[in-house]
Amino acid sequence: MAISLAPLTPHFGAKLTGVDIARPLTDAQFGEIRAAFDEYSVLVLPEQPLTDEQQIVFSERFGILEGTRALNPGSGTPFARQSNLDIRTGETIPADDRRMFYQKANMLWHSDSTFKAVPSLCSVLSAREIPPAGGATEFASTRVLYDSLSEEEKAEFATLVIEHDFVYSRGTVGFTLSDDEAAKFPAARHDIVRTNKNNGRHSLMIGAHAKTVVGWTERAGRQFLEDLLSRATQPNLIYRHEWRDNDVVIWDNQAVLHRATPYDTMNHRRLMQRTTISSGVPAAE
Ligand code: OGA
Ligand code: MN
Repeated sequence: MAISLAPLTPHFGAKLTGVDIARPLTDAQFGEIRAAFDEYSVLVLPEQPLTDEQQIVFSERFGILEGTRALNPGSGTPFARQSNLDIRTGETIPADDRRMFYQKANMLWHSDSTFKAVPSLCSVLSAREIPPAGGATEFASTRVLYDSLSEEEKAEFATLVIEHDFVYSRGTVGFTLSDDEAAKFPAARHDIVRTNKNNGRHSLMIGAHAKTVVGWTERAGRQFLEDLLSRATQPNLIYRHEWRDNDVVIWDNQAVLHRATPYDTMNHRRLMQRTTISSGVPAAE
């Protein structure tokens, strides 16, 4: 079996087939996957049924896994669970439950863990149960956005630092954290321009957690960040992934944004397991 790649859009994303990631991978096989990841930013791997343990073993090829913090039901494990199913009973969670409200923020364009001091390299999302309709995930590339900047913008952006804040982003959907909860999520600052070490390609780290531009007024910072977000997420630049059972999707949190889309959470079941790989050694959780 040879690994093969088929681009998903003219801009980014590829379907990767010809490998079984539930089995131990040779260095050559993982090297091809890693190179494709650096090149395409989003990889879709169809028909990859995974157990939690297999997902962890595969994900660790990319680096050290983040621990999931308080508030996600996967807290205390390497998994962030995206689901309308109660983790203990497997029953659907009522729509007005705080846990469902919490997940609403996934519908904002974001990259995972940009609010952490050590941000994430990538996420691996495994479709365990999918609804018959809805629940697609959309992606947009901030590498494509970077490449579209004017030379003046590129020069200006090279000095910009953004403050990312989880408490802020949840607040934008009306989800409030108690003081004790909020204390677990101090804001983090990152250069807006990210550079992929393997290929030198630049991208911008923005999205729902991006709160302010350090040193700018709040108003100017918000306007700037919202303008960039709408440039990145123009409909003709998006890849929309309609899930099939056992799809695995890997995305580069430093090069793409993503967002969840709605589904009937009262009548349909959805369970996605995410592992999140750190870009370095994560701070203690
Ligand atoms: C995630 C996420 C979107 C979705 O897993 O990080 O944002 O459609 N998921 O479940
Ligand atoms: Mn996410």
